[in-house]
Amino acid sequence: MNLNNLSIEVSAVSPKQYPTGNRPEIAFAGRSNVGKSSFLNKMVGRKSLARTSGKPGKTAQINFFNIDGQVFFVDLPGYGYAAVSKAEQQRWGAMMDTYLNMRKQLRQVVLLVDSRHKPSKDDIQMAEWIRYRFGYLIIVATKIDKLSAKQLEGNLQLIADTLKFTEDDILLPFSAETGSGKEDCWEVVCDTLEVEMPQLR
Ligand code: GTP
Ligand code: MG
Repeated sequence: MNLNNLSIEVSAVSPKQYPTGNRPEIAFAGRSNVGKSSFLNKMVGRKSLARTSGKPGKTAQINFFNIDGQVFFVDLPGYGYAAVSKAEQQRWGAMMDTYLNMRKQLRQVVLLVDSRHKPSKDDIQMAEWIRYRFGYLIIVATKIDKLSAKQLEGNLQLIADTLKFTEDDILLPFSAETGSGKEDCWEVVCDTLEVEMPQLR
């Protein structure tokens, strides 16, 4: 992979829109506004491949990004955004359930949590599902540029404790602002997908 061929493949709401073929995918989940789309953009070195926003609820569909014709990165809509209607929340839940439960190409779900906060009930539920399905967790702790080194250390411990970390679980501190943690995240992603590391710029 060289990250020269990047594009959105499809924004899907139902399975018939998902990409066909057998390319492996890795999906990124987490609360609305936690920084999923920003994480993806920073990882691939593009400012606005995935759309981001200061307002929660920006990503409303399942976005499949084609990475060098080899794998898909899947940007999931965020959960826990209270301001949307009940009907909208149900639609969201059904869309996520369908994707997460039926997608054979899905190799792992990476869960993003905000490094400043204790993981929410929804985060814990998502983590439990990931552990059940894949056997271990990959957690990205976002927005670490907003914390001092000392605060970060304490919060990482809190995150690991709250999600009941075992020695198989992986915790990756990250900042989409500074790019801190990017190389470690790529290493874990490439290991998971069994692809070679791209040349990072
Ligand atoms: P939804 O699409 O609503 O689920 O949100 P999302 O998880 O995709 O979040 P998004 O990437 O749109 O980022 C939300 C806000 O947080 C934006 O204003 C980003 O600029 C900001 N943000 C994301 N990551 C970081 C980070 O690492 N550091 C800082 N300081 N801000 C960040
Ligand atoms: Mg988003």
